[in-house]
Amino acid sequence: MAKQEDQFKRVVSHAKEYGYIFQSSEIYDGLSAVYDYAQNGVELKKNIRDYWWKAMVQMNDNIVGIDAAILMHPTTWKASGHVDAFNDPLIDNKDSKKRYRADVLIEDYCAKIENKIEKEVTKAAKRFGDAFNKEEFITTNPRVVGYYEKINTILSRMGKSLENEDLADVKALIEELGIADPLTGSKNWTDVKQFNLMFGTKLGASAENAMDLYLRPETAQGIFVNFLNVQKTGRMKIPFGIAQTGKAFRNEIVARQFIFRMREFEQMEMQFFVKPGSQKKWYEQWKKNRMKWHLSLGMGAGNYRFHDHEKLAHYADAASDIEFKFPFGFKELEGIHSRTDFDLKAHETFSGKKLQYFDHEENKNYVPYVVETSIGLDRMFLAVFSHSLKEETLENGSTRTVLKLPSVLAPTKAAILPLVKKDGLPEVAKKIVADLKWDFNVAYDEKDAVGRRYRRQDANGTPFCITVDHDTLNDQKVTIRHRDTMEQQRVAITDLKDIITKEVSMKSWLQKM
Ligand code: GAP
Repeated sequence: MAKQEDQFKRVVSHAKEYGYIFQSSEIYDGLSAVYDYAQNGVELKKNIRDYWWKAMVQMNDNIVGIDAAILMHPTTWKASGHVDAFNDPLIDNKDSKKRYRADVLIEDYCAKIENKIEKEVTKAAKRFGDAFNKEEFITTNPRVVGYYEKINTILSRMGKSLENEDLADVKALIEELGIADPLTGSKNWTDVKQFNLMFGTKLGASAENAMDLYLRPETAQGIFVNFLNVQKTGRMKIPFGIAQTGKAFRNEIVARQFIFRMREFEQMEMQFFVKPGSQKKWYEQWKKNRMKWHLSLGMGAGNYRFHDHEKLAHYADAASDIEFKFPFGFKELEGIHSRTDFDLKAHETFSGKKLQYFDHEENKNYVPYVVETSIGLDRMFLAVFSHSLKEETLENGSTRTVLKLPSVLAPTKAAILPLVKKDGLPEVAKKIVADLKWDFNVAYDEKDAVGRRYRRQDANGTPFCITVDHDTLNDQKVTIRHRDTMEQQRVAITDLKDIITKEVSMKSWLQKM
């Protein structure tokens, strides 16, 4: 656990030191759970967004994008159910005065049992060596089976209680499990209450005439209310999708773990409109597609898993999370939800306008069903960034900090380094920068010894360093160094563009899907 915490602290401090993420309004001591993306962070974030957009919109003939406004008519949120049901169950500790999400306290309790399972598995793998069969072990070892049963019993009871709004039972469960305030150890809890997560704001100048609005808590509703506009103007035929990236706002009770849970964050969502009855097939298909997208980034299949929901949101008939192994354990990264016709039907009712599709094959109108994929851009950023940050011990015993970002996402693709600041080498290096910057984000660096410059670029996540030396003046060749392997090659300046393109282009990465 301490190791996990240390790794997470390293992630947060590295993100600041290398210009990725700053606390918002830091000079005023910051604003809780709000962050600013710095010069490198904004590039990494943009690259993740572009990678998603390319895979979802550009590569799918039947998906188009929109960019709806953050402010929407307030009836939107009545129709969507957010005014009545977008709540988190909260509980206060009477001694520490700290507030927690009751469901998160229970889930964290279960995560501790999962850690025990992992320890049993590691011990057994050591004991049995090559003969170890994990699947067999976890399904037959009595202690592990007992742990799994305990987790299932707890989570299904919690799911049922939340579903039935039985908040007294949620409190009883916390007490029965002996869950204590993680900060103080106190078990002196208040009752569990529901808390609405939407931020309110006002439209209009004078207090009497102002209209109460909400900052959108999800981007999805901007897509639902535009469903028919897009379908008609784009002459879209079902099945088709509408994608969008943009800010969402939630007044999270417990906003912690850096950019994992923020009050202002960005979502990348896609609503896929399908024929009623076919939603199960599309739900399974999008679960597969989205997992493939994640795996294309090469961060290891073992770091992802599906978690099918017991407790379904008010709009869903099936839902699953893609969880990622963050430094603090497996947590939700993306949700895939089969949202039925709940949203479109509710908007029909509240607006009095029809939101139906005329199916020429079936010769009838219907309200389509929707399968949604929804991923937090900031959460994806944290997944990529925390996974990529490594401390390596080199052959000579020294250590290096390296940010092994998937090169397609790296903010700077190459740094051009003149070996010395004289003899015409800076001029050649700057000419290379001037040529390459049409195609890639590149940097020029002439300060310090070249070894230190390599380390700086490693820590910054730059996949290539290109060094110009005295021989370059004669042979028009440079040394290209690969961040991850530290291998160096002598290549012609004229080949640089092709070499870099091969490694960093979205095409070569997305073709792995
Ligand atoms: N339209 C469906 C929807 O909003 P959600 O599970 O509430 O579903 C989808 O959110 C994704 O948005 C999550 O999987 C997560 O990646 C991201 N997300 C949600 N709340 C967040 C927060 N407070 N901070 C950062 N990301 C968040």
